Amino acid sequence: MQNNLLTHLNRLLASHSVHYQQLRNFHWNVKGPMFFQLHDKFEELYTAAADQVDALAERIVALGGRPASTLAEHLGLSDLVEVGGVPSAEDMVGHLANQGKQLAHDLRAAVEVAERSGDRNSANLLDGMADAHDSNLWMLRAFLQEAPTPQPA
Ligand SMILES: [Fe+2]
Repeated sequence: MQNNLLTHLNRLLASHSVHYQQLRNFHWNVKGPMFFQLHDKFEELYTAAADQVDALAERIVALGGRPASTLAEHLGLSDLVEVGGVPSAEDMVGHLANQGKQLAHDLRAAVEVAERSGDRNSANLLDGMADAHDSNLWMLRAFLQEAPTPQPA
């Protein structure tokens, strides 16, 4: 069971690493009338994502595992599709909302695995991260003028 959790944690680490780099990409490349707001918002989000990457990696170490530590490993393990090119500002926000929704979903799946193995510490960590993604999600959807409840991507 613990190995199963480590597999989930490493995949989450990889996905958050891809999400982090996605946010930096968009922070650097966003253009248009919303530049100042989005440039700053993406920086705030990638700073939070860096902390999440670190927390996941260190939880893996604490459980006796080895965190996936190279970018090649992260791209190979990640469930997230990295968006290339330079989308419009609105599409950037849409991509980030989709990624946040998937990360929250994957985190909650891992919470169940942690709870089944009696690992409250991991469950609490992952639950808090899922809540943080949900908090960002309603703001991203408000920007896109979408309904606040999760919609199919
Ligand atoms: Fe910057």
